[in-house]
Amino acid sequence: MAENFDLIVIGSGPGGYVCAIRAAQLGMKVACVEKRATLGGTCLNIGCIPSKALLQSSENYEELTHGFKDHGINVEGISLDLARMQARKGEVVTANTKGIEFLFKKNKITWLKGEAKFTGPNAIEVAGEAYTAKHIVIATGSDSVPLKGVEVDEKRIVTSTGALELDKVPGHIVVIGGGVIGLELGSVWRRLGAEVTVVEFLDRITPGLDNEISKAFQQILTKQGFKFKLGHKVTGATVNGEQVTLTVEPAKGGDAETITADIVLLSIGRYAYTAGLNLEAAGVATDERGRVKVDAHFTTNVPGVYAIGDVIAGPMLAHKAEEEGVALAETLAGQRGHVNYGAIPSVVYTWPEVAAVGQTEEELKEAGMAYKVGKFPFMANGRARAMGAMDGFVKLLADQETDKLLGAHIVGPDAGALIAECVTAIEFGASAEDVARICHAHPTLSEVVKEAALAVDGRPIHI
Ligand code: FAD
Ligand code: NAI
Repeated sequence: MAENFDLIVIGSGPGGYVCAIRAAQLGMKVACVEKRATLGGTCLNIGCIPSKALLQSSENYEELTHGFKDHGINVEGISLDLARMQARKGEVVTANTKGIEFLFKKNKITWLKGEAKFTGPNAIEVAGEAYTAKHIVIATGSDSVPLKGVEVDEKRIVTSTGALELDKVPGHIVVIGGGVIGLELGSVWRRLGAEVTVVEFLDRITPGLDNEISKAFQQILTKQGFKFKLGHKVTGATVNGEQVTLTVEPAKGGDAETITADIVLLSIGRYAYTAGLNLEAAGVATDERGRVKVDAHFTTNVPGVYAIGDVIAGPMLAHKAEEEGVALAETLAGQRGHVNYGAIPSVVYTWPEVAAVGQTEEELKEAGMAYKVGKFPFMANGRARAMGAMDGFVKLLADQETDKLLGAHIVGPDAGALIAECVTAIEFGASAEDVARICHAHPTLSEVVKEAALAVDGRPIHI
């Protein structure tokens, strides 16, 4: 007889494991299927966590090699132990994945090890065993988008997974795609000594971000040594021993050229991953991009089958997947789970960081909305000067009529931490004036947010 659960979650990434924990907290008998040897999904194993470990290590290295002198600190004999840096990253990942294993035990969640395959609408098979559940959640995440003519071997031509594992600093790394992965991992290897060239199809980097922020971000990265080849596409890659030769063409047509690289990072986006799930057996429908179709309550076209996280539409972000996991578990328990998609922050963990929430100026224009803009540079902030981190600015967008905050965009030091205040403001429906009147500690970087809010009304103090 097939073992029965109240809820089976397929995939233990931030969407799946959080959904499983919340459902267990609410009294359900829960199982989570994971085919990887460790829990935590893309995020903990090959995504957010290892990339942030290497970003931190490489930032420390760059600070030591380039940043300290100006502070009157002379350091000699610095050397890079990449093997240790990579080992530390591995330790950070293990501590996190083991942490989820502990949370599963604590919440009495059964980990079904292996690949889940639907055998019917409410039934799956894992490692030859049959299981049924009242509710089944698909949280199988995403994978790297491939590119014709660029064969990934995870050694010379790598996705983010291989780029996190390099055992030697490449002389020249070519990044295909000027998005989040390319710029974060490009930063890691540039800081450690690589030359980095980004080939981007569009005439701008980071397409989802506010254009003005994107432009400033690109200028800052260029100052750091990044080279950008915008409006170009890679049409082929040939590995010759230790080197890769890339064929690059203007996106709008023109003469092809070749670029050689030691490592090529393919980062042109991620797609919803449902391979091996046998969705047909359950009759679950997907959209034109292969994403599982769901309604506002994460229900698929098949009653009792749900989907959350990267495998459905929306930003492919860990915290978005987590919010959906909680909302779905609460809905299944009879509560009113809800995700406010208008208040989901996004952060690029480069130096400086880039962070955003709400609408961009381009989106407001497109929607025909009348808006006000308030901007304030980190250059005019005492703390940023003391830190020696003056690049960037905060840009707030508010409704022309009501002053309601509609968007917040930051490029600058600790943008990822600073955006939290803006997320709270947007979630609470605050006006720019509300933010402007809140007392912000001095001297902190958060004063730049306050000054930008004052600037919405044309009355910043320190500029
Ligand atoms: P995933 O985390 O992808 O987990 C899905 C899991 O399902 C996987 O473990 C997979 O093995 C398992 N699975 C799939 N099919 C089956 C099956 N049939 N049976 C059993 N198991 C199965 N997001 C952020 O918010 N912040 C960041 O800083 C950030 N950094 C990133 C850095 C990199 C390099 C990458 C690649 C991604 C990053 N992301 C970041 C994105 C983030 O990792 C994803 O948005 C998030 O992991 C999505 O969670 P998920 O639960 O939907 O799926
Ligand atoms: P992305 O969507 O961020 O960027 C891909 C870039 O590649 C775009 O600028 C696109 O115009 C460009 N592109 C597409 N096809 C191309 C081609 N043929 N040639 C050249 N350029 C091309 O995708 P990326 O960087 O792969 O990341 C995937 C997702 O992972 C992100 O969208 C994000 O959701 C998630 N992620 C989040 C992070 C964070 O929150 N800090 C960090 C890393 C990943």
